[in-house]
Amino acid sequence: MADTQELIARINALALRSNRSKSTLSRLLFGNGKRIDEIEAGGSITLTTYQRAAEALAELEQTAAASAHAPHSSRYPEGRTAFPHKHLLGTSGLAPHEIMFLLDEAEQWVELNRQSHKRDNRLAGLTIINAFFENSTRTLLSFEIAGKRLGADVVNMHAAQSSVKKGETLIDTALTLNAMRSDAIVIRHGSSGAVRLIADKVDCPVLNAGDGQHEHPTQGLLDALTIRRALRARGVTEPFSGLKVVICGDVLHSRVARSNVHCLTTLGADVRVCAPPALMPAGIEQLKVTAFHDFDAALEGADLVMMLRLQNERMQGSFVPSPAEYRHLYGLTPERLKRAAPDALVMHPGPMNRGVEIDSIIADLPERSLITTQVEMGVAMRMACLDVLTRQARGVEGWQ
Ligand code: CP
Repeated sequence: MADTQELIARINALALRSNRSKSTLSRLLFGNGKRIDEIEAGGSITLTTYQRAAEALAELEQTAAASAHAPHSSRYPEGRTAFPHKHLLGTSGLAPHEIMFLLDEAEQWVELNRQSHKRDNRLAGLTIINAFFENSTRTLLSFEIAGKRLGADVVNMHAAQSSVKKGETLIDTALTLNAMRSDAIVIRHGSSGAVRLIADKVDCPVLNAGDGQHEHPTQGLLDALTIRRALRARGVTEPFSGLKVVICGDVLHSRVARSNVHCLTTLGADVRVCAPPALMPAGIEQLKVTAFHDFDAALEGADLVMMLRLQNERMQGSFVPSPAEYRHLYGLTPERLKRAAPDALVMHPGPMNRGVEIDSIIADLPERSLITTQVEMGVAMRMACLDVLTRQARGVEGWQ
């Protein structure tokens, strides 16, 4: 017989500790915001429902316990001061508590996205435009799913089918999107700085979905969320402090590398970047990282290895002699991974070139590869960003 009284007591205690309403917890645990009231009033539940709820509750309790032990830098002020930015253009310049706030906000969406009913209507009535001037699978789809799961109307503008092809300027395109009274604009563009240019011209929040080789902030944030959850699951309460991270590949052209470097160093990680000399940006040490050209040396004792793709579309001329030669020096192979810590984790933002920067056997390693988890966390993190950045316009208490 399921002990629903004990379950209800734990849910009530968690509601107090985690500052979440009982109806939110009820929705996360039972897929119905009123179910907990019905159970408290004497309603019964099946053993399967009880077991699923108890399992999900244990995970929420674990997350709440880890947050309670978070270091001082991760505590944040209330309301709008928790994240005072109008736009999300980069992870550069975000304070540790602002990053931690977004990670904590994303946790509830990880839970919701694991339910069969994945819906919260807080953005109902809002219009979000995804304007992508470059190809994307993960970022575009996850922003679209994120907006829809929060109840917004989401419209995708593909540059290839737009009036950009008829010579319309970026600024005129931005003014057009603004005139349509969108409530948030998500932009991917091939030129570094293009997203800021648009942000300066429109009234609503702008989210950078990747601009040239500059920044891809939601990727940095979703990677941090992935890392935190993986290490918390191993019992680590301060996951970023002193974490030895290696970021290897085409650092020169990688906005993912930049956003991760800013995010991870801000949170206290020890970041090493590794690339062939031609693919290492000049002055990279100013970003508080250690630069390596020898991948084997960079990997020594690493806790986490993040691999990057060769961004051939941004290269003029050939930066590496051949894919085979690149793999020989910079590919993550089983032999090479042995140089890292015994249980080192592996990440890749995608899209991957299997057999070039990463061997398939590593990319698919259970327990060690976080690559599909990164995609899952992408939806949750983008839900958090859309929710937080539209709070002021929605008049959410404490955010006006
Ligand atoms: N990681 C990433 O930005 O992937 P997409 O290019 O598929 O969006």
